[in-house]
This record gives sequence, C-alpha cells and structure tokens, in this order.
Amino acid sequence: MRTEFANEPLTDFRIDANNRLYDEALRQVEAELGKEYPLRIGGERVMTERKAASVNPAAAGQTVGLVSQADEALAERAIRAAADAYRSWSRADPNERARVLFKAAALLRRRKFEFSAWMTYEAGKNRAEADADTAEAIDFMEFYAREMQRLSLPQPLVPLPEEENELYYIPLGVGVVIPPWNFPLAILAGMTTSAVVAGNAVVLKPASPTAVIAAKFAELLEDAGLPDGVVNYLPGAGRDIGDFLVEHPQVRFVSFTGSREVGLRIQERAARTAPGQIWIKRVVAEMGGKDAIVVDADCDPEAAAEAIVASAFGFSGQKCSACSRAIVHEAAYDDVLERVVRRTRQLTVGNPAERSVNIGPVIDGDARDKIMQYIEIGGQEGRLVLGGGTGDPDGYFIEPTIFTDVDAKATIAQEEIFGPVLAFLKAPSFGEALRMANDTAFGLTGSVFSRNRAHLEQARREFHVGNLYLNRKCTGALVGVHPFGGFHMSGTDSKAGGRDYLLLFTQAKAVSERF
Ligand code: NAD
Ligand code: ALA
Repeated sequence: MRTEFANEPLTDFRIDANNRLYDEALRQVEAELGKEYPLRIGGERVMTERKAASVNPAAAGQTVGLVSQADEALAERAIRAAADAYRSWSRADPNERARVLFKAAALLRRRKFEFSAWMTYEAGKNRAEADADTAEAIDFMEFYAREMQRLSLPQPLVPLPEEENELYYIPLGVGVVIPPWNFPLAILAGMTTSAVVAGNAVVLKPASPTAVIAAKFAELLEDAGLPDGVVNYLPGAGRDIGDFLVEHPQVRFVSFTGSREVGLRIQERAARTAPGQIWIKRVVAEMGGKDAIVVDADCDPEAAAEAIVASAFGFSGQKCSACSRAIVHEAAYDDVLERVVRRTRQLTVGNPAERSVNIGPVIDGDARDKIMQYIEIGGQEGRLVLGGGTGDPDGYFIEPTIFTDVDAKATIAQEEIFGPVLAFLKAPSFGEALRMANDTAFGLTGSVFSRNRAHLEQARREFHVGNLYLNRKCTGALVGVHPFGGFHMSGTDSKAGGRDYLLLFTQAKAVSERF
C-alpha cells in the first residue's frame, strides 16, 4: 500500500548547492537544443516534412527544438491508434494503471532539475517557477493514481435485501487532450494522466510554444511502461488539426485548458453530433481569468502588497490565476500602492536562466505585441506609475507595469491581458470592492486582505470565484489542497487536483443482481 498523498517539496534556491545543480541541468539541456522531435502514434515515431521551431523566448534566435507537425491524416491515425489501445487499456486493472503513474512520478522526481531546465529554455520560467511546475506535475500523478485506486474500491450503496448492488467507474473512450503552454509540464501532465489512469486512451495535442517539453513528457510515460497508443503525442497548430480532432465522431471527450476564445469554439463544435457518433461528447474546458485582490481598509498593507506583487508579476503575469486587478479601499489605497510600487521596482527582469532573475520574458512575439497594445490602452484609461516598456530586444521582455485610477469597466480591468500588467482600482467601501471584483465575465481566483471578520465572511458568501483566498496570494494552488477551477467564462470548474476530477473522465455503471 502506498503512503498517503503529500505535496512534492519545492527546491530551496537560497541554497547554493541547489543552484549549482540547476546550472548543471541547464548545461545538459543546452547541449540538446535544436534537435528534431517526431510525433508518437501507437508507439511509432513519425517524422514529418513540415516542422515548427520552438524557440527560447528569452533569446528568440535560439531554437529549442524542431517539432514535427501533424495534418488531418496523421490526426486520423492517432485517433485510430488510441481506439486500438483503448480496447486493452480500458480493461487493465486500475491498480496496474495507477502504477504507471507512480513510476512516471518517480522518474520525473529523479529528473526534476532537467525537466525544469527545459522549461527555463522553452517557456522562460525562472528557477522557482519551473521547479514548482515540475513539482506540481509529480503531485498530479501521485494524486490521480491514488484517486483511481480509491474509485476502484467498492462504492457505498444502500443495501437492498436479496440483491447484490455495485457501482463501478468505467472509462469513457478516446479523448483529446489540449493543454496550454503556461504550465507546460504540470497542466499537461495532470490533464493527460488523469484521463489515462481512468482507463481512457488519448491524443495529446500540445501547445505549440512548448511542444518540446511535451515530447519529453510523452517519452517519460513510455519509459514508465505506458503501453503504446494510450497517449499519442500529436503536435500541430490548433487551426490545422484542432477542429478535426474535436469534431471527430470517435472522440468521446475533449479535455481543454486555454483561452476563453478557443474553449468556447471547442464547446460549440463538440456539441454537434457527427454522423455515426453514438454519444454526447463531454467537454472539460478550463479557461481564462481576470483575477482580483481586494484590500480592505483594515488590512496588513505590507502583506497585501507582497501578495499583489507575487500574484501579478510571477511568471510575468502569465497565469490564469494572476492578479491583474488590485481593488483597494480608498483608506488604504495610497499606502498599498506605494508599497506595491516599491516592491515591484526591486524585481529584476532578464534571462530566467540567471540565478538572480525574478521576471523572465513573455512567451512569444504575438504575446508581447498584444500585451503592449493593452499597455497603450491602459495609458488612456489610467495613470502609468511604473513600467510600460520592453526589455532586451533579443527576447520578449516586458517591464512589470502598474496603472492607477483605473475604472472597473475599463478594458484593462475587464479583459484578460495575460502579461505583467496590473490595474489599481479604488473602492469607496468593502462592499463596493467586492461588487467590482465580481464585475467581469470571469470567476477564477480572487483574494481578500482584511482583518475584519464580518468582511471575510461576506467575501466567503459573495466573492464569486472558483478559488477564493483570504489573506494570501491568489496564485499557487496546490494539488489536493486547493482543487482548482473557475466559474462563469473561466470554465467548467472541473477542480483539477481535487477528488471530483477523475469522475469527469469516467462513467458510473450500476450493476444489480438478484439471486
Ligand atoms: P490557447 O487557447 O491559445 O491555446 C490552448 C490550446 O488550444 C493550445 O494547445 C492550442 O494549440 C490549442 N488550440 C488553439 N486553437 C485550437 C482549435 N481551434 N481547436 C483546438 N485546439 C486549439 O491558450 P494558451 O495561450 O495556450 O494559454 C493561455 C490561456 O490559458 C489563458 O487564457 C489562461 O488564462 C488559460 N489557462 C487557464 C487555466 C485554468 O486552469 N483555468 C490554466 C492555464 C491557462
Ligand atoms: N494552478 C495555478 C495557480 O494556482 C494556475 O497559480
């Protein structure tokens, strides 16, 4: 019997020895940059003519890898391979499936720094952010493996005399897994292995900017003993193969994490019944956020400022959970703003491979341009108090940027920017601050800083987000501790890392026998 689930400890980068290990991993990965990566379909490696370059966002001239690109014919092959593998994998003992995840978690733990170093090169994550991503990937596998074991135990039912009643959680079929690039290991690993441990077989279409780390993970699953065809690694542009995969009649479910725009498109397309399709497709869609930290008049201003800075600028604000609105009671506004600006000035922007760097680049040129457009809009909607510029032109750097006196209805207070841009909003009362916080189409994370018990209770009742944090930052959900998922346009509230999650990839079969 395995021990109880516990979160993977994070690496302490104040310790020099850990930094030296990281430096070594960076050197090891650097020696592997620029290689070619094939698709993996039913265990077969398929190298295509057309390849997409994955580049280092901190040094765009550096190619991380050249990744083969699927077309519809290869997507068809991948779905067939998954359907073939499903026949035996769906019948494998749940404990056998769980053991593949335990093995993959153990392998990843041994290669922790190496996987994190890939994320430094491919996603621009600094050491701490990359390490947390790898730790979360380990957590997801350890957690979902145990969850499958729990679900495969006899389920409690009300006894009926003279009947034997049982309920089993059986898999759904072939799924398409479509993760984002911003947690290129953790979210990808969590979405893939949850579906797989439940007995499904999947086509994994990685996000293009981080397709190399996805290839590394697919290889790791193979090393862990996952049978061929259970996970088919199928990189390709969403616009080329996305609709084909989602609309395919043999696909039983789609597990998506990404933008609202793409999530809604998937939801609509999956809802149409294709000729020959004999099920209603299930869509799990986790999408964007416009997350707020609400600061009360009666708060610890330094703790609030620390949390705002960490939540707004960690990984350059490229988290669905990032704080992009600080909604501060007018009595605390100037004080908290001044502290946030002071702390933000201390952040170093640069190559995330360097030990001392707090803020790396944004993911690519399109992201940089889009964020800079929002900064321009912000200049018309508020007062720029910090940042607003770009950095070293070799990479996609943007300074941490703060606007004050922003109206709750302003574009930069309503739309997801997904970059290091923070809007300060002034609230005349705590109640009004909560109303402003709720006043977007999203509902993912939110925090409240207050010492007022009644206000904290009011926030529990009224702040409508899937993950509400009181007197702490709004990023950094831990697997098993903070099941994660949002309301409204933030998605289907699937609660990744929670005890309901695997149910999304199973169907319950009740069997009654009268003797
Ligand atoms: P994105 O929507 O651009 O891409 C996500 C995935 O969808 C990628 O793999 C992409 O290739 C694929 N895709 C694109 N077009 C497609 C199509 N037509 N059909 C099928 N797939 C298609 O998002 P992104 O830029 O990778 O990630 C950032 C977004 O993800 C942000 O909005 C962020 O808030 C959100 N996100 C949400 C969560 C959450 O848990 N709620 C977590 C991380 C990121
Ligand atoms: N799960 C990630 C966080 O909480 C997105 O920051």
